[in-house]
Amino acid sequence: MITYRVGEVSGEEAREVYRDCTLGKRRPTEDDQRFTQMLRGANLIVSAWDDDRIVSVARSLTDRSYVTYVADLSMCDSYQKQGIGRELLRRTRMEVPQTQLVLFAASQAVDYYGKIGFTRHPSRWTLQPDQPL
Ligand SMILES: CC(C)(COP(=O)(O)OP(=O)(O)OC[C@H]1O[C@@H](n2cnc3c(N)ncnc32)[C@H](O)[C@@H]1OP(=O)(O)O)[C@@H](O)C(=O)NCCC(=O)NCCS
Repeated sequence: MITYRVGEVSGEEAREVYRDCTLGKRRPTEDDQRFTQMLRGANLIVSAWDDDRIVSVARSLTDRSYVTYVADLSMCDSYQKQGIGRELLRRTRMEVPQTQLVLFAASQAVDYYGKIGFTRHPSRWTLQPDQPL
């Protein structure tokens, strides 16, 4: 049975999930210090567990007042399409009910968020660490 937890997860626990998911290639899973900081810097983490195995993580940064940025929704491949992603986002939202959720979809998931109720926003701007400003 899948259960859900709100709160920090360890670097090792989270790394297992990221590595078992396409998102792992786009996050610093090979750099311990950066990966640990990535987790510590998030202030809202909701995770899904199959008994004592962590299978999915929704990692967000929120001001708990206006906006919540969902930075990652990572999931072990074999647990996809069982409603876990939707449930993690539902529980994330329950923690910060006054805020709007904002996220950038991965290319494999561009149609997912619209399907579960999100509205597509026409503007998206990013500045990568190596881009001049
Ligand atoms: C994309 C992802 C987060 C979706 O989570 P999930 O738990 O598998 O999805 P759910 O079970 O909540 O699916 C809800 C609905 O969306 C559909 N869906 C799932 N993944 C989808 C996708 N990639 N594109 C379009 N629809 C999708 C499901 O079929 C389901 O539809 P239904 O209600 O008609 O049956 C998950 O598959 C995942 O982590 N994928 C790999 C990593 C990734 O790309 N993360 C996204 C970062 S933005």
